[in-house]
Amino acid sequence: MKKTILTLLCGSLLMACTETYRPAYHHTPEQNWMNDPNGMFYDDVNQVWHLYFQYNPYATTWGNMTWAHSTSTDLIHWTHHPNAIMPDSLGTIFSGSAVIDKKNTAGFGENAVVAIFTYAEKMGQMQAIAYSNDGGYTFTKYEGNPVLTADIKDFRDPKVFWNEATNQWNLVLAAGQEVRFYSSPNLKEWTYLSSFGEGYGNHNGVWECPDLIQLPVRNSDEKKWVLIVNINPGGPFGGSATQYFVGEWDGAHFTTDQTQTLWMDCGKDHYATVSFHNAPNHRNVVLAWMSNWQYAEETPTKKFRSANSLPREINLFVDNQNQYRLGIYPSPEVLAIPTEPSSELAPLAKIEVSVTRGNQPAVISLSNDNGEQVIMMYDFDKNTFSFDRTHSGVGGFAREFPSITTTDLMVDAQQYKLLIFIDRCSIEVFDADGHWAMTNLVFPTKPYNEVKTNGCKAELYKIGK
Ligand code: FRU
Repeated sequence: MKKTILTLLCGSLLMACTETYRPAYHHTPEQNWMNDPNGMFYDDVNQVWHLYFQYNPYATTWGNMTWAHSTSTDLIHWTHHPNAIMPDSLGTIFSGSAVIDKKNTAGFGENAVVAIFTYAEKMGQMQAIAYSNDGGYTFTKYEGNPVLTADIKDFRDPKVFWNEATNQWNLVLAAGQEVRFYSSPNLKEWTYLSSFGEGYGNHNGVWECPDLIQLPVRNSDEKKWVLIVNINPGGPFGGSATQYFVGEWDGAHFTTDQTQTLWMDCGKDHYATVSFHNAPNHRNVVLAWMSNWQYAEETPTKKFRSANSLPREINLFVDNQNQYRLGIYPSPEVLAIPTEPSSELAPLAKIEVSVTRGNQPAVISLSNDNGEQVIMMYDFDKNTFSFDRTHSGVGGFAREFPSITTTDLMVDAQQYKLLIFIDRCSIEVFDADGHWAMTNLVFPTKPYNEVKTNGCKAELYKIGK
């Protein structure tokens, strides 16, 4: 049975939307627990985005991992479908990816959707495949599973892509504190190619959910490969975060001369980020799980737990240190959400902020009648932007929740613009020129209804009715 659960007119229509902290224009599970986005792909024939996700069908905390399934035609409104891949005697179903096998390399049929996932059980983790001949709605597990095993404890989250240059599939997965690369002609037999990790990036946690994608560098014909590696714990503000490496991929080895650890989002609630396979028009669309393992199971929602981030498009630019950086924008679908200018701050809102560099910090604060507030600030001496949620509302559910997150501005401009998206319990701040993004959850006891600015200008928009 299909059920459209996200609508900008929600509340009056559906039970699913009546919870205080239920986001309205972000994907959430109808009920129970969700973590990582999995197997995301775009069906170009039917023009449908498919999103699977780590799901516990029985509780609002982690367990019984299953791939649940939602689809969307605009990345904003989502329809839930029956669970796609369920646990069996080989284990529960951990994270992974999906591809459309256009050339029928696996022999499951032309255009079969092939999911590559991790079986997890007490004895260890291994990779397996399942195929769908109905466009991704129902899957049959391959009888030759598992397709890839190893003698290490943490061996998971396979992400597969087609390599035009070698006419083969490539797979990257997380193996302890490194990633490993493999190749295959048919998605069933995998050959080890190389590993990457030692001596690079952050190692204060386990590496998880990697992805490898080629991205254009802005204002040039150049392209570079970006290796995304989620890590937990070890994030810049504690707990989970997404780091990345910019370099080269020769079909067998990833190399980089990057020396600094770089983070894809500078908030506390942006994890397990990976890209959509087969996105149209060479778009590079990513989605994150909008939470942090430090407190994900404690957040004060009732019927459901966790949401995804807004969809984002990524590319590369060169920053003021002459270093490649990941550029991040809200997807065009996000910018197309209908909005209306508003004099008050609404619970579903967009704020456009314009700032001119000055001698004093520029401050934007959001507050409610209960004295709860979020304070955002440009500090031009330090060339940083920060987000303070220490007094943002309900925050006592975890010691690690109250926090201040900071990013450097990446460029030395005179003018800056921000796009801020508020959806009840989430605030996503985007530098409007796509230099950085910052994603943080907040749980105000009443919606923030006032915006104050100092040294900058804010225009308020209401989202939905
Ligand atoms: C990341 C992760 C993955 C794993 C999944 C299990 O959040 O730990 O590494 O596959 O969650 O639910």
